[in-house]
Amino acid sequence: MIEVKNVTKKFGSTLSLDNASLTFEKNDYVALMGPNGAGKTTLIRLILGYYHPNSGEVLINGLSPIKDRLEVLEHISFVPQLPPPIKLSLEELISYVCASAKIEKKEIFHFAKEMELDLVPNLGKSFFKLSGGMKQKMLIAISLAKKSEIIIYDEPTANLDPKARDNFYRLLKENENGKISLFVSHRLDEIKDIVNRQIYMDLGKVVSDEKI
Ligand SMILES: Nc1ncnc2c1ncn2[C@@H]1O[C@H](COP(=O)(O)OP(=O)(O)O)[C@@H](O)[C@H]1O
Ligand SMILES: [Mg+2]
Repeated sequence: MIEVKNVTKKFGSTLSLDNASLTFEKNDYVALMGPNGAGKTTLIRLILGYYHPNSGEVLINGLSPIKDRLEVLEHISFVPQLPPPIKLSLEELISYVCASAKIEKKEIFHFAKEMELDLVPNLGKSFFKLSGGMKQKMLIAISLAKKSEIIIYDEPTANLDPKARDNFYRLLKENENGKISLFVSHRLDEIKDIVNRQIYMDLGKVVSDEKI
């Protein structure tokens, strides 16, 4: 369960989140929508413990994402809007995530294959040097292999071609059971089959929140 209670986050004079409150429970598959600058990424970063709120509180299964960061992150899979500049080779990256999170190598290979990312010939390549689409496929494969109870995707499909998007949505649908998923997207038509709740944000506030 994710509780966001009266959270305000400011950057200088910019109010990125304005006393926002939201609760996400098991089996909430959420489309998080709203214009650029609405505060969607800020909300996600607060949930991940990247940012400290100016006021209010975020709790993940009762734990603080700042004080109990490692334990909280064990329960979350996250794919960001822009892939991070990881300098490791794919082989090193896979070894690293398998050692640091409870992920099985064969699961990463399984989901990479499902995403039509051919891992074997690319294992020696630096993640940094892959195409945008390949990076996103790799991060998606890791996020699904982690089998977390909370999955958060911040506009992950921008670099994916239509077929890769279809594969991605199919995999999400197949792996939906008793989780929480937060999905930032501008295209409700694309994700309407994998969500059951739609939240619209603007100017740091939750403007609407409805079951769909
Ligand atoms: N690290 C940061 N430093 C300064 N301003 C930020 C930072 N993160 C977000 N903001 C500001 O907060 C507002 C909300 O941004 P963001 O959460 O990224 O919106 P969204 O993801 O909905 O497009 C914007 O005005 C943005 O410029
Ligand atoms: Mg954003």
